[in-house]
Amino acid sequence: MSYSVLFVCLGNICRSPMAEAVFRHIVVEQGLEAVIKIDSAGTGDWHIGHPPHEGTRKLLDRYSISYEGMNARQLAVQDGGNFDLIVAMDTKNERDIREKLGVSSRAQVIRFLSLLPEKGIDDVPDPYYTGNFGEVYELVKEGCEKLLELVKGRMNIER
Ligand code: 4NP
Repeated sequence: MSYSVLFVCLGNICRSPMAEAVFRHIVVEQGLEAVIKIDSAGTGDWHIGHPPHEGTRKLLDRYSISYEGMNARQLAVQDGGNFDLIVAMDTKNERDIREKLGVSSRAQVIRFLSLLPEKGIDDVPDPYYTGNFGEVYELVKEGCEKLLELVKGRMNIER
């Protein structure tokens, strides 16, 4: 069995590429990269083709997490049929995703921080505006660990 996860934020240069890279890193560590497909996209179109933001790259470099070959793309209607799970980085992203994909979408859409209810916050703060990429990294790392447990459960993988 295989499973597919798409992370979505607004620009696809700060939060969702960070989540994509961190999630892939831990998926590779567990040897599951052949069976878990991972991608990211933005609801907006301003940064199509751009690499991750310098702030995201700095954090990923600090933790030796690869972002090689990653470039921004916009969420497409077909993503609703191509992914099992779409993970929105904030509430507005979630609303925009549901609106774009429509009711016939196969993918389940969840909010990233629904994985970390104990944090008591709904939205991963947007570092494009806050400049705080370190805060985003901490949330993304914890959330991705929870997400991998969820995905493994759905794939009936023990451990
Ligand atoms: P992201 O952050 O959604 O985490 O990638 C943003 C990146 C770019 C813009 C807004 C948010 N922008 O307006 O260009």
